[in-house]
Amino acid sequence: MGRRIGWVGDTMQVTISSGNNINGTLVLPLFEGVETLPEGFEGVPLSLKSQINRVLEDGDFKANANTTMTLMGTDGGKALLIGLGKASKAEAHTYREAGASVVTSLSKMHGNELTVAIHGASTANKAAFAEGMMLRDYSYDDYKTQDKDEEKPNLAARINCEEKEASELSATIERLSAVVSGVHLSRDLGNCPPNDMYPMAFAAKAEAWAKDYANVKVEVIDYEAAKRHGMGGLVAVGMGSARKPCMVIFTLNGDIKGRHPVLVGKGITFDTGGISLKPGANMDEMKYDMGGSATVFGTMHALASSGYEGKVVGITCMAENMPSSNAQRPGDVITTLSGKTIEVLNTDAEGRLVLSDGLWKAGTDFDPEYIVDFATLTGACVVALGHEATGLWSNDDDFRTRLHEASKDVSELAWPMPLLPAFEKEMTDSKIADTRNLGGGRWGGANTAAAFLKQFVPNRGEGDDAEQITWAHMDIAGTYWGAKTNKMVGNGATGIHVRTMVKFITGE
Ligand code: BES
Ligand code: ZN
Ligand code: ZN
Repeated sequence: MGRRIGWVGDTMQVTISSGNNINGTLVLPLFEGVETLPEGFEGVPLSLKSQINRVLEDGDFKANANTTMTLMGTDGGKALLIGLGKASKAEAHTYREAGASVVTSLSKMHGNELTVAIHGASTANKAAFAEGMMLRDYSYDDYKTQDKDEEKPNLAARINCEEKEASELSATIERLSAVVSGVHLSRDLGNCPPNDMYPMAFAAKAEAWAKDYANVKVEVIDYEAAKRHGMGGLVAVGMGSARKPCMVIFTLNGDIKGRHPVLVGKGITFDTGGISLKPGANMDEMKYDMGGSATVFGTMHALASSGYEGKVVGITCMAENMPSSNAQRPGDVITTLSGKTIEVLNTDAEGRLVLSDGLWKAGTDFDPEYIVDFATLTGACVVALGHEATGLWSNDDDFRTRLHEASKDVSELAWPMPLLPAFEKEMTDSKIADTRNLGGGRWGGANTAAAFLKQFVPNRGEGDDAEQITWAHMDIAGTYWGAKTNKMVGNGATGIHVRTMVKFITGE
């Protein structure tokens, strides 16, 4: 369990111990109003103990949520106090954030060995604290030549617990560690600079990853094959780049029979806008435009490495959107895998073009229980929801509610948005094609994009029995990077929704 591949950053080592011994720095989570060090500690040097008691008694450490204080005993020993806020408001995410805040506050003086002593917390909340530490213990320094020479030792944390909860806590932390490695994989993929992260490079990483698992298969549909199959959306977006597009299909537990989830990801490894060129400011951020594909790859890794036994398929639509003499033009009409045509009115609305082929492939080559797509699709979604929530659309209200609930459960908020017939009408009233990739005006741009995608979700069955496959769309333009209030992340790609999908698919 928790196997990792070479280039996926190792998560910190977390162990558990049923006892009260302290090794290294004592990490002490505390609620507001606690005035003395809880009973039952062994091995806390006397002067450190009295220091802790003094700051608590004097109210110098108020234990407001996510505040920290470091204390050093004169006869040795160090402690890091971490506030949990009001006991009455505490929930799993309180502990997750506190764990993350500990890692944020660490400096050289704390050393690499921590012992966490959480008194009175449930097993689930202890695990959430460990999860927060593991999630936040991430940095992307592959391109820092100095750091490499220094060889930083990995952080090791021990969580003290009671004898009777030891085996449950250890199993939960092991599972969470596998999921965290999926989040970190998504972040690694997103943070990778676009000169090294291009469609076939992503595919090569997927193929290398699959070698580690007997129950995983990765298929790469390269540019030539995509053209042969009629993937007109993927080809049109990718053909302007020297680095050609491809589709990568991940299958976990392919031998299992029956309907299964299919995840689809937008994987634009760099979005210049194409001939409808974007303005220069912050264009570097468009390296994150493959965030949807990273979410899919990260989720596949989280599921595979945590030993999930159900069948899941992931499809990523990889292309680099470049202006060139081979690039598509505004005004072009393309024919997608579905046979439906699209009038391309703006080459910067490219995500929906590659997804049109991915969604159709999902519903026609497989038998999905449901399809969920992830895409950094529209600036309009960032206007609507800021960096605080992903936009969530679905053709099934109950399904949308269940996804919303799963996202809340793991504190990766996805907020319900409307899929209205008027938006569909707007996207299908091209004078010369079946659909158009641009709305009639600038309003509701995230909704018109979602309504466009819906045109490419296949039906199940024929004639009067035909019913569209259950589908949801998640616009992660505001949440895949730049989310400053996300305490699990220092900077760069967030790896959002790997945990949401693990929760939704496995129930855990
Ligand atoms: N990748 C962008 C969306 C985006 C923009 C994500 C800013 C995050 C931050 C997408 O391909 C795009 O350019 N969309 C256009 C659509 C428009 C031309 C209809 C947009 O949002 O402006
Ligand atoms: Zn674009
Ligand atoms: Zn884009």
